[in-house]
Order: sequence, then C-alpha cells, then structure tokens
Amino acid sequence: MTLKDIIFNDDIKTIMAGGKGGVGKTSSAGAMAVLSARNGYRTLVLSTDPAHSLSDSFDQNLAGGEVVPIEGIDKLWGMEINTQKGMQEFQEALGSGGLGPEASMATELLGDVSGMSPPGSDEAMAFGKMLEFLDDQSYDRVIFDTAPTGHTLKLLEMPELLDSWMGKLITMRQRLSSYMSSFKALLGGGQDEDTSWEKLQQTKDKIEDARKKLSNPNLTQFVVVMIPEAMAVFETQRLLSSLGQFNFPASNIIVNQLIPPNPDCAFCSKRRTMQQSNLVDIKDLFNDFDFTEVPLFDGEIRGLESITMLGKILIGEDN
Ligand SMILES: Nc1ncnc2c1ncn2[C@@H]1O[C@H](COP(=O)(O)OP(=O)(O)O)[C@@H](O)[C@H]1O
Ligand SMILES: [Mg+2]
Repeated sequence: MTLKDIIFNDDIKTIMAGGKGGVGKTSSAGAMAVLSARNGYRTLVLSTDPAHSLSDSFDQNLAGGEVVPIEGIDKLWGMEINTQKGMQEFQEALGSGGLGPEASMATELLGDVSGMSPPGSDEAMAFGKMLEFLDDQSYDRVIFDTAPTGHTLKLLEMPELLDSWMGKLITMRQRLSSYMSSFKALLGGGQDEDTSWEKLQQTKDKIEDARKKLSNPNLTQFVVVMIPEAMAVFETQRLLSSLGQFNFPASNIIVNQLIPPNPDCAFCSKRRTMQQSNLVDIKDLFNDFDFTEVPLFDGEIRGLESITMLGKILIGEDN
C-alpha cells in the first residue's frame, strides 16, 4: 500500500506521523492533511508533540487550545494540543472531585499495595485529548503529528497503564465501598447516588475502543518518518518494534531530506553518497515496507506553497 493509497482511502480515519525530532514529522503530517482536505475529507491535524511546530509549519497560530480552521484550505482544521488544558479535561473525564473519599483512599492504598503511580504526566493528558478526537464525528479523518520517538512510545503504553491502574482501582473500590456503606450507615448517612464507578468504567471502555481502532489497519495507519542516517535506523527499529508490540499498523516509511545529485558540489556529493548507501541498507532492513523518498528542499517547509509541494512528492505527483 503506497502513501497515496492510504491518503485517498475513505476508510482510513487516523493517520499518525512518527519518528525522531527534526526528521520532518510535522511537515509530513501537514502535507498529508492538506492532501486529505483537498480530496474532500473533513480533516483535523493535531500536534501531540510538546515540541510543537504545527503553527510554524502552517505559519498560523494553532496554539490557542482549541481547534481552528486552517487558512487557505477548505475542510482543514488544526490544533496544537495544550497539555495543561488537556490535563484538566482528562481529570474531569476521570471524574476527579466526583470520585469521592473512597476513590482517593483507594488511590492511596493502590499506590501502597501495587507500587503503581496513577497517570498524571503530560503524556497521559495528551493521550486523553487524543482519545477525545478519535471519537469525534465532525471529522472524516484525524492526522496526528506525534512526538519524538520516546514520547510516542510512552503514549502508546498509556492504554495498558491506565487499564491496569483502573482495573486495580475498580477492584479496590468495590472492596472499599462495602466498608464505606457500613461507615455511612453507622454515621446515619443516606445512600447517595454514586457515578464515579461508572465514569471510570466509561473511560476504560473508551480506551479499549481506541485500542481497537488504533490497531485496525483498515482504519489507522502509522507513517514512520526518518532521515537516511545510521542513527535514525536504530531509532526506527525501536519505534517499529514498539508499534508491533501494540499491534499498531505501520506499512510506510518516508525517507526525508535526501540530498539531490549535484556534481559541482563535492561536499553535497559526499553526503549524497553516504545517504544513498544508508538508503540501500534501510530498504533492505525494512523490506516489507513501502518507501516514499523526499528530497531536501532548498529552503524550509513552511506555508501552504511548500507544504503543497511536499504533498505532491508524497503521492508521487511532483513534476
Ligand atoms: N525535505 C525537507 N527539505 C528542507 N527542509 C525540511 C525538509 N523536511 C523538513 N524540513 C525542515 O526541517 C525542520 C524540521 O521539520 P519538521 O517537519 O518540523 O520535523 P519534526 O516535526 O519531525 O521535528 C523544519 O524547519 C522543516 O521546515
Ligand atoms: Mg514537529
């Protein structure tokens, strides 16, 4: 399946661009988003990378904490996910405040008993926002500009972490609630309506649903972006093995920043030779992947014109 097959496939709801910092994830996510929107899909491009660059890429402020239309392209919206705001919303989704004393006791106990810490990191919050948009029917497609490798991997671990954390919390809570009702009866308190268990369960279900969607290759594709350098090969190997571990569908690799032939420049030619040799190794190593080669541009990829140019290269329709 080529990148073009993925981008112009009606069934693909989620595309993620992943790889090391600076390789071209944001540029690629932006270019795929523009292609999607121009093909008629209501497209949302979201950055979950704390090192945001989507605003720079589109030359428009997308850091306001809400989804905004991207100027100059119909049916395209974008946002850089604000982890602070995400944190609040995720806590609300978890029902904190509404959880009641049993839950906070259970959380404490859980820490003591299991040694597990509840999710509280930026990564978890970004993931919470991600869950929200996976479900959003206002868009035909959501394209994620994900974080550098290490961060992405943490996000991918979140469903399992949360799942086991919540599972334990729920069990703990069940046990505690019988004690608590005895206490309440003792203190003469009434039976109050309890929705916190339901909220936890709903969040857990949402995560499970997301896992199903994210591991279905007909719905989701993870596009790996890399540069033709030896170090990048190791990073990509690590990323792919983790993606495999989570059944994340990945079948395409973008090799970016390839130096074009230039016989007049000894320096360029030397670098090109090195890159081309690495490219051979990369294709050999990841031989079941589809490759898209992208040349190094003579300037930054910034603004619609260069993003569009990159898009043409991604679907093999340049020149
Ligand atoms: N093929 C390319 N040619 C020239 N500049 C590029 C190319 N790909 C990316 N860049 C530039 O490199 C920088 C990093 O790209 P970006 O897409 O933001 O990477 P990431 O999101 O992986 O950190 C940006 O300044 C971008 O304009
Ligand atoms: Mg980026």
